[in-house]
Amino acid sequence: MDGDKRQSARRIPKERYLSREFLQREKDRLWPRVWQVACRLEEIPKVGDYVTYDVADETIVVVRTAADRIKAYHNVCPHRGRQLVQGCGHAINFRCPYHGWTFSIEGRNVHVQDRQDYGDTLNPSELDLLEVKLDTWGGFVFVNMDPACEPLAEFLDPLPEYLDDFEFENMRYRWYVTTVMPANWKATLEGFMEGYHVAATHPQLLRYLGDDYTQSYALGKHAHFGYWDIKAPPGMPSPRLKGSGEGGDVRAGVVAFFEMFEQQLAAIWTDRDYEAAKAAMAKAPADIDVITAFGMAVEAGRAAAEAEGAGYPPKLTFEKLARAGSDFHIFPNCVTLPWFDGTLWYRARPNGDDPDSCIFDIWSLKRYAPGKEPPLQRRKVDLKAGDSVCVILDQDLNNLDHITRGMKSRGFSAARPNPVQEVEISHFHSTLDRYLD
Ligand code: FES
Ligand SMILES: [Fe+2]
Repeated sequence: MDGDKRQSARRIPKERYLSREFLQREKDRLWPRVWQVACRLEEIPKVGDYVTYDVADETIVVVRTAADRIKAYHNVCPHRGRQLVQGCGHAINFRCPYHGWTFSIEGRNVHVQDRQDYGDTLNPSELDLLEVKLDTWGGFVFVNMDPACEPLAEFLDPLPEYLDDFEFENMRYRWYVTTVMPANWKATLEGFMEGYHVAATHPQLLRYLGDDYTQSYALGKHAHFGYWDIKAPPGMPSPRLKGSGEGGDVRAGVVAFFEMFEQQLAAIWTDRDYEAAKAAMAKAPADIDVITAFGMAVEAGRAAAEAEGAGYPPKLTFEKLARAGSDFHIFPNCVTLPWFDGTLWYRARPNGDDPDSCIFDIWSLKRYAPGKEPPLQRRKVDLKAGDSVCVILDQDLNNLDHITRGMKSRGFSAARPNPVQEVEISHFHSTLDRYLD
């Protein structure tokens, strides 16, 4: 990776997370003008299926209008402004629950209650639902409230060059969790935009993760980090663990790597990868080196995926995987950690008008044989009530109310992201400034 892409150190004033004025600037200048993920295509397979997407004070509904067409509207009735629908579901048409004005799924007004009362004062163009720009990439439905916005492909550039070969469009939900976090949407997402926290927040991972030292670079409006300068491969202990490097059975380490992530995360690598790794290592010679062993485990995962009919991304080589790195920030509010047959995806968005609250969605996607994907269940998690997402993510999420509390202290004025490992975060704020200024 190019050293000259590295950002110089910057400070991020805490008001960017805490102040209502800053949230208002985001509401005025960011959300109405930026592409953002509203849902995935598999959430609306049938004509009439819809999903709502709420961000700050805005609400949008995405609906399938034909086998090959979807549309998005501002989710509001033009009569007196009632939100039309909540959550997700199936509609023949959208009937406003307040006075019954009705709209086809194509957004056309088909009924005004007691229309004759209005005489000729209703302008037909004001009666329909207001359309929102929509495009898709990788099976994700993106919306943009700005009618004059740049094309999605231009906005995403150069991410497709790194990510297209993962074939996100051929993955489906393995699980879907939503939780309301007591923290700003940016602080929440930033917990997943660097690997710098792994040693302190997830110390149990160091045993088999290999070297946890990361580097991070900007990519257009977006950014990524990866493990490009490591002294120990996956399956080995991190060099941070003193005196634990040599001499173990690397086959057990490779199996333990997949087991650890299957049991504590159930995302990125799949349960199929774990089973394949166990079978491959049972056949591997005792004196195998760790890189060969890890490669064997991955190849066994490929064979298992193909045997199941799930397929494997044909153009994604190890070289491309290595170049991509481990973690992408997709400006403004998504992060993904992709692997050959699975990816972990995060989406954070402001919760109404409160800078200290966000809606946080966590999606584990996986390749399945057609028709073998599990039924989609959106699980709501309340961490305060003692619910759990999984071991690793609970560790991440448990930092967040302490971050909100700490940032409010008069002893804290600005964040100091690491200029090597946390460029995703500093670059995030640079891109944000281009929208806000
Ligand atoms: S607000 Fe929708 S019909 Fe009156
Ligand atoms: Fe983490």
